[in-house]
Amino acid sequence: MAMQPQLAQLVATAQQEALAVTSRAELEAFKARVVGPNGSLTAVMKGMATLSKEERPVVGKLINEAKKSVEELLAALLLKVEDAEIAAALGTPWDATLTGPDAPAGSLHPLTRTRERILASFRKLGFTVAEGPEIETEWHCFDALNTPADHPARDMQDTLYLPKAFRSADAPRKGDEALVLRTHTSSVQVRTMLSRKPPFRIVAPGRCFRRDAVDATHSANFHQVEGLWIDRNVTLADLRGVLDFFVKETFGPDAEIRLRPSFFPFTEPSFEMDLRSPNLGRLSNRWLEIMGCGLVDPKVLELCGLDPNEFSGLAFGLGLERIAMLVHGIDDIRHFYNNDLRFLRQFA
Ligand code: PHE
Repeated sequence: MAMQPQLAQLVATAQQEALAVTSRAELEAFKARVVGPNGSLTAVMKGMATLSKEERPVVGKLINEAKKSVEELLAALLLKVEDAEIAAALGTPWDATLTGPDAPAGSLHPLTRTRERILASFRKLGFTVAEGPEIETEWHCFDALNTPADHPARDMQDTLYLPKAFRSADAPRKGDEALVLRTHTSSVQVRTMLSRKPPFRIVAPGRCFRRDAVDATHSANFHQVEGLWIDRNVTLADLRGVLDFFVKETFGPDAEIRLRPSFFPFTEPSFEMDLRSPNLGRLSNRWLEIMGCGLVDPKVLELCGLDPNEFSGLAFGLGLERIAMLVHGIDDIRHFYNNDLRFLRQFA
C-alpha cells in the first residue's frame, strides 16, 4: 500500500501549485501537469496495471478519491479565473447605474413643459395643484356646476357617456348616475369645494374629452388648466389681478388682458379673457380669446356645501394646447399628438 502516501503527496502538491494560478493559460498548463497524458495523476493511474488482483480495488478507490479532489480543485480554479476575467473586462471602479454611451437624451413634451410653466406661475400666487378623475360623474361634471340635464348650455358638452360596466369605484356618485369622460376640468372645482375647507387656491391641470371633430384647432382629447380661489370677499379685482399676472409671466411684460362679458352656468358674472401681445408673430397685437372665467355662481357654492353669504370665489379654465400653440407659434394642434420626432426635438 505504498500508493497512499504518494497520492496524498500528489494532491497536496497540486493544491500548493494551484495557489499560483491566476490566468486561463496558467490553469491549462496546471491541468496538463496533473491530469494531462503525461500528468502526475495519469502516471499513477497507468501504474495500476502492475498491481496484483488484490491490490487493485483498494488502490483504485484511493485513486478515485485523489481524482475527485483534483477535479474539485480545477472547478474552483476555473471560477476564480472567470471572475478575474469579468472584472478585468468591466474595469474598476464600475458604476452599474451609468447610462450607456449611445442612449439618446429625451426631452419633455411641449405640453408638459407648458403645463409646468403655467403651474409655476400660479404657485407664485399661492395656488396649489389639485387633480380629479378623467372618468367623472354626470353630477360633478354638470349638475353641481349649475348645469342640469335640460340646460341649453349642456348641449355643447353633452358628450361621451360610459356604459354601466365601466363605472369605476373611485368616482363617488349619487344613486344610479351616469358616468362621462369629463368635458372640462371644472369638475375639480366641485371636488375641491366638497373636500376642503376654504380659504384655498388651487390649479387643476388635466385631460378633457369632447366629441369635437378634429381639425387644426380642435381635438376630441385635449387638456385644460382650471383655477379656483375661494375665500371671504374674493372680487373681480382679484380675478383681473391673477389673470394679468399669469399672462405677463407667460407672454411677457407687454401682454395685456381684456375681460369680455360671456356666459357659463357656474360663474356669475362670466367672461371670456382675451390676450393681446406684441410678440406673437402673425397673431401679434390682436385680441385673442384664451380662457373662460368669472366669479363662482352662489348656486354652485351652495351645491358644493359652502355658504354663499360667507364665501365667494373666482374660477377660470384655459386650454393648455391653445397656450402652447401661442407661446411656440404652432399652427396645428395635431402636431402635439403625432409623436413625430422632427417636431418634438425642437423643444429639447
Ligand atoms: N369650463 C369652461 C370650459 O371648458 C371654462 C371655465 C372654467 C369658465 C372656469 C369659467 C370658469 O369652457
